[in-house]
Amino acid sequence: MPITDPTVDAYVYAHAPARDAVFLEMEAYARTRGFPIVGPAVGSLLEVLARSIGARRVYELGSGFGYSAAWWLRGMPADGQVTLTDLDPDNVARGLAYLDRLGDRDRVRYVREDALSAFRRETGPFDVVYCDIDKEGYPDVVEPAVARLRPGGLLVTDNVLWDGAVADRTAQDPATVAIRRYVEAVTTHPRLRTTILPLRDGVAVSVRLP
Ligand SMILES: C[S@@+](CC[C@H](N)C(=O)[O-])C[C@H]1O[C@@H](n2cnc3c(N)ncnc32)[C@H](O)[C@@H]1O
Repeated sequence: MPITDPTVDAYVYAHAPARDAVFLEMEAYARTRGFPIVGPAVGSLLEVLARSIGARRVYELGSGFGYSAAWWLRGMPADGQVTLTDLDPDNVARGLAYLDRLGDRDRVRYVREDALSAFRRETGPFDVVYCDIDKEGYPDVVEPAVARLRPGGLLVTDNVLWDGAVADRTAQDPATVAIRRYVEAVTTHPRLRTTILPLRDGVAVSVRLP
């Protein structure tokens, strides 16, 4: 089920910010491989969010080959740092090469292991925790993220509308059920205030309350 009308989508994408050749190459690579990146509409949201809270420390769970991280970095000052996580060595190598070409190599750390295990070793505080791992893992991200975000920091999660399946009561596959549990957790959590943006596949933005 389309989240937004395709004509409206086209309008939104037509107004995504200009980006340089490396970004366009990453988008082309994702297109040819069918690799699920956030794309420029959600990417520009990440940049705007980073700029709005003066983010300097971002932790990504599920980074692929670095496209979403590149958007966070666009919104951060020169001393801003993103930790990326991915299980796939090809994604890590490709991501490091792209981020190097973007001039961001010194601003990133790539961790090649299960994102949640790596994240649990961190003490924070982070300005942003971004979640885009396998959907079954989403519910387990909430409490570790709340514990590691500074007050006013953001937990940002992609695909929370999952092609509309979350709103279809007959859809009971593990990914859909896990996303529903995630949304329930972040919309009722006493230390979070959450909004769901119907942008692309749905983005949940939660601010950590003091
Ligand atoms: C949707 S893609 C990420 C796309 C990326 N955020 C972007 O927009 O550029 C999800 C990635 O998370 C990785 N992944 C999934 N579950 C993971 C886990 N538990 N730990 C680490 N990486 C994981 C996959 O290898 C895949 O590359």
